[in-house]
Amino acid sequence: PIPVIIDCDTGVDDALALLFAVRHPGLDLRAVTCVAGNTDVDGVVRNTLTVLEAAGAGDIPVGRGAERPLIEPARSARHVHGLDGMGDLGLPAPNRNPADVDAVTLLRREILASPRPVTLIPTAPLTNIALLLRTHPEVTRNIERIVFMGGAVATGNATPVAEFNVWHDPEAAAVLLTAGVPITMYGLDVFQRVVVPGADVRRLQASAEPGARLAGRLLAHRPAAPDPDGDDPAGGLGDAGAVCAVADPAGLTTQRLPVEVSLAPGPSRGQTIVDRRPRPGESEIHEGAREQALVDVGLDVDVERYVKLWLATVEG
Ligand code: BDR
Ligand code: CA
Repeated sequence: PIPVIIDCDTGVDDALALLFAVRHPGLDLRAVTCVAGNTDVDGVVRNTLTVLEAAGAGDIPVGRGAERPLIEPARSARHVHGLDGMGDLGLPAPNRNPADVDAVTLLRREILASPRPVTLIPTAPLTNIALLLRTHPEVTRNIERIVFMGGAVATGNATPVAEFNVWHDPEAAAVLLTAGVPITMYGLDVFQRVVVPGADVRRLQASAEPGARLAGRLLAHRPAAPDPDGDDPAGGLGDAGAVCAVADPAGLTTQRLPVEVSLAPGPSRGQTIVDRRPRPGESEIHEGAREQALVDVGLDVDVERYVKLWLATVEG
């Protein structure tokens, strides 16, 4: 199996990502690290531990990470993910504590200890990852690639042009993009398309298996889009799609393109500027080419394939 580490802000759809990762036979989830994003970091840690327990994976190390972005104050997404960050479903408190080392230390330890290069899957603001890359740059020698949920080629969600994870900590995203390791961007353009039909959500909600039932309850909290099959509210897989893209890369169509994060104050801040022009334009002719990171940008996704894969894995 592929050794993976998820860095998350659990988070309704981060939970859907964890439930998939622990059960997919092709993935070896070696650790989970937590960062402020959808809710405060202590809430993220609690939610993450609870989800792992429900999935029968209560032994995976969980690291508590950054309380706030590198420069900005923390700004939660409670209006999307509920006051507790997990849809206010009244989930039980976890039975264990996080690891006694912080997220960055845990990331370093697990990456360097892995017998095979690790794939990192950030599904949250990139603060922990930026701190890791700056504090322990030697980790890149044992990172296979980083597949992150964040950014958008077209339309944003936190602002008209910026996606939440990148908008929450744009400087951290800029550090990631220039890390010098292969990067895949699973942005809003594909993220928003992977939706589980309402009938499947209802079946999961009625499941006797705790992990699958939790997945159903979480999906029901995320009526993401009109049901492709009828009137039942369908649920968006969100961050879980990024983990599907690691387990089954053939379902994601990518193109290697220059990507830059806008760090400017004002309306473009946090935008991922993806250069899809077929040839250089006037600015390059007059000013020379800017140095930009090349990223494998997700442009299309096989929705049915990922929904089937996720359901088959989580339902077992
Ligand atoms: C991203 O922000 C969070 O609300 C979701 O968990 C996802 O990671 C979408 O913009
Ligand atoms: Ca997330």
